[in-house]
Amino acid sequence: MILASSRLLLAPWTERDLAPFAALNADPDVMRYFPKTMTEEESNALVDRLRGMWADHGYGFSAVRRREDDAFIGMVGIQKVLNPAYPFAPAVEVGWRLAKAFWRHGYASEAARAALAHGFDVLGLDEIVAFTAVPNLPSQAVMKSLGMTRNPTDDFLHPLLAEDHPLRPHVLYRLKRDDFQR
Ligand SMILES: CC(C)(COP(=O)(O)OP(=O)(O)OC[C@H]1O[C@@H](n2cnc3c(N)ncnc32)[C@H](O)[C@@H]1OP(=O)(O)O)[C@@H](O)C(=O)NCCC(=O)NCCS
Repeated sequence: MILASSRLLLAPWTERDLAPFAALNADPDVMRYFPKTMTEEESNALVDRLRGMWADHGYGFSAVRRREDDAFIGMVGIQKVLNPAYPFAPAVEVGWRLAKAFWRHGYASEAARAALAHGFDVLGLDEIVAFTAVPNLPSQAVMKSLGMTRNPTDDFLHPLLAEDHPLRPHVLYRLKRDDFQR
């Protein structure tokens, strides 16, 4: 399935996305708020898992391409959070990860808006959440620009990170269908 916005396409993963996605996942700046960068094998395995999510649920994180030149710019979409270790699960999250060359052009929020519209208007979801490490202010800025709101009582410690890991404290933002500004 392909979602279109004015400048972008959210599209199924193809073989030609693998190399630029691996480069993005190996970039320490892109992965600054994640525990570590990824090897090419780990990046390719992530794409396999994303394709599996699509196959199982009919939606998931997509490859994002710029319409004007077909450049691969990153990954954006909505996906199920089913792991009960997350205190807000089960839920549907919206997420984003772009190559550095494409930051600060409004692409993350534009792509996320297309994914949210699909989630609310086509899939009929009542609520979509987003979460990130406390120091990841760029990601929280995207959440705010989408109209998502944080309630500090939803703050949580990431269940998959070690107890002393500095990225463990996380914030959760929520958006209800009725509050989504199309
Ligand atoms: C987070 C990320 C996707 C933002 O992408 P982007 O395309 O630059 O974001 P946008 O241009 O759509 O910006 C949306 C809003 O966030 C703001 N913003 C973006 N980057 C920012 C930054 N570094 N500092 C402060 N504000 C920032 C924009 O000004 C904009 O606000 P506005 O709507 O009030 O003007 C990008 O920085 C990234 O891929 N980071 C690495 C991966 C990552 O951390 N992903 C999130 C994991 S939870």
